[in-house]
Amino acid sequence: MSSSFLLGLHFSHATLAASGLSYNGLSITPAMGWDTYNAYALDYNETTIQDNADRLVSLGFRDLGYRVVIFDDAMTEKNRSSNGSLVENSSKFPSGLKSLVDRSLHSQGLQFGVYSSAGRFTCGGYPGSLGYEPADASWWASLGADYLKYDNCYNEGNSGTPKLSEHRYAVMSNALNSTGRDITYSLCNWGDDKPWEWASTISNSARMSGDIQDYFDRPAASCPCGPDEYYCQLPGYGCSVFNILGKASHITSKNQPGYWNDLDMLEVGNGGMSYDEYKTHFSMWAAIKSPLIMGNKLYDLSPEDYGILTNPAVIALNQDPQGSAIQRHLVEQTDNKDRWGVGEVQLWSGSLFGGDQVVAFVNAANSSRTISYDLVEVFGGVSTNEQAQQAWNLYDVWGNETVIPAASAAMVLNGTVGIEAVNEGRWYYNASETSWADGLASNDTLLLGTPAGRVEAAGTLSAEVPSHGIAMWRLRSADKGNTKKKRDEL
Ligand code: GLA
Repeated sequence: MSSSFLLGLHFSHATLAASGLSYNGLSITPAMGWDTYNAYALDYNETTIQDNADRLVSLGFRDLGYRVVIFDDAMTEKNRSSNGSLVENSSKFPSGLKSLVDRSLHSQGLQFGVYSSAGRFTCGGYPGSLGYEPADASWWASLGADYLKYDNCYNEGNSGTPKLSEHRYAVMSNALNSTGRDITYSLCNWGDDKPWEWASTISNSARMSGDIQDYFDRPAASCPCGPDEYYCQLPGYGCSVFNILGKASHITSKNQPGYWNDLDMLEVGNGGMSYDEYKTHFSMWAAIKSPLIMGNKLYDLSPEDYGILTNPAVIALNQDPQGSAIQRHLVEQTDNKDRWGVGEVQLWSGSLFGGDQVVAFVNAANSSRTISYDLVEVFGGVSTNEQAQQAWNLYDVWGNETVIPAASAAMVLNGTVGIEAVNEGRWYYNASETSWADGLASNDTLLLGTPAGRVEAAGTLSAEVPSHGIAMWRLRSADKGNTKKKRDEL
């Protein structure tokens, strides 16, 4: 029996085991897709959906896994019909929702995401689904829904204890199951009543903070809890990337295949952050295993932002078959602290499928810094730690093997050449054809990252990290090749 056959068996066992952890067998890796809200608020229509769906396909996003298109709020009329059903908004969607979904989404291999609230109204003031769960779920299923984002507005006091929230959200979970359709269930209750303690048995993900804003670290009165207050009774909105990252750092261990802490949608492409800030945002959302839901205008992307969102080495961290989130080990204060401690360096690391590791140095300080940590620190500060006592090959996940250069990206974005053809498809990874697990097993540098040398046992990792930027590596055991060779000889 060849070693690659053994490896193949290993992967399928892992996938089978992982699917058992999901309450409905879905979302074994975090959901990926695109949502209307960050870029359009409630102002979107049929054309918005069509145009962005087409870009998901033509720019290669679909084949990287960004499949679900979420109609975030304001999809229906403002009132239910006289018999209590939701009514689709035919002025926004003149073709009819079913026909739009069939034509623009399902026929192109995309998925349909709907939105409602476990309350009387949605956050935008449209009818909510509290008390109407079975009827609304079956209407969505009849339209072909594949995903529900379920909000928390106007919940009529049915919150304040984990029991109240769980009970309210479980009603919809059961209603979705009763439709007989596979519908990923994504709670949007902003961390209220600590969903990471109870939601994994009824849902596939839950938001853990107030709404994101397109800022790296700007404090906002509307987002009153700081990054160290992971449980926030007033989650609010206007929360920065750095604020959400801090909150998430306390609960990363709650992730498992089938249930993910949702750090909210991506802002990459919306213009409020620098290139380095967007890289940090995307890298950390990916490695923490947040769902990766873009919230931008896909026909208005800069070449640099396109390069960030399509980086297969970073997406491979998010879609890793093991499903463990990166963990924060150290926070060191540096310069110019504000009331939230911005001006700090953070060290994160975590394990990946097959024994690989991921390490991140985040520099939230206001100047570029040389950051160094030895392997003992990198792996949590225990000197006997097995990982610290072995040599690793390093792969820079932001190196030039995986980030499409701006000039090539510009050609893809303006339609001169397809992503699968630019420079002979060098930056194109098609996860619809080759799973992330198989790509990783074949040592494809498109997924591993750019080779960046080696660190010896008990050695030191070091990088110059720009202000608000990140250095991030995949580590693969330097002994792995030898192990494989030995296995082949058996
Ligand atoms: C809430 C959610 C957002 C978005 C809006 C829609 O604020 O947290 O993500 O869905 O509602 O109105």
